[in-house]
Amino acid sequence: MLNIGVLVSGGGTNLQALLDRIDEGYIKNARISTVVSSKQGVYALQRASDMEIPSAVISGKEYESIDLYDKALIEHFSRYDVELIVMAGFLSFVGTLFVTRYKDKIINIHPSLIPSFCGKGYYGLVPHIKAIEYGVRLTGATVHFVNEEYDKGPVILQKAVPIKRGDTPEILQKRVMEQAEWILLPLAVKLFAENRLVIKGRHVIIEGDEELQI
Ligand code: GRF
Repeated sequence: MLNIGVLVSGGGTNLQALLDRIDEGYIKNARISTVVSSKQGVYALQRASDMEIPSAVISGKEYESIDLYDKALIEHFSRYDVELIVMAGFLSFVGTLFVTRYKDKIINIHPSLIPSFCGKGYYGLVPHIKAIEYGVRLTGATVHFVNEEYDKGPVILQKAVPIKRGDTPEILQKRVMEQAEWILLPLAVKLFAENRLVIKGRHVIIEGDEELQI
């Protein structure tokens, strides 16, 4: 059984997608053992509570250094024997200690087609604001492994979403979440739980016969 630890900072809709897909048996041999939020009072914590999943608030602001923050996160996740970390709308930074401890075992969902509209400051509505401003026809979401460079780890899955005339950032964000994020993240976790993701340098090989239906 794969124990998953989920890092959140907001509404938790990506967490909910994981919970639902595990409940439906789409993701097998895995469970969310704990949820950690970087902020108090976010609805993601309510979602964890509703499913009786142990949670904690571990905020970077309360630690004097990134190393101490990393150690607090590692200590918490170790208590739950976590073997996969999922960043689902997580807005804080983790450091070298954390990324090394969970090397090739941290997955992040980002609301753009990396390497476009990503990097420091590109979170929440910002990727969508920038995509609309730039005038691209397609944006989407990316699930990737996390390494020491922000938003630059090996890409696991991507899905394109059209930008339509009159889109506001809010309308576009909802479309990207519904049509891309909430599909890609559970699929990536399913593939990880089935040991079908093989990292070779910058590339992620997805093992298994059938063509993925994304
Ligand atoms: C959303 O902007 C989403 O695009 C990104 O993080 C934010 C909150 O997601 N992944 P969630 O509802 O907390 O999962």
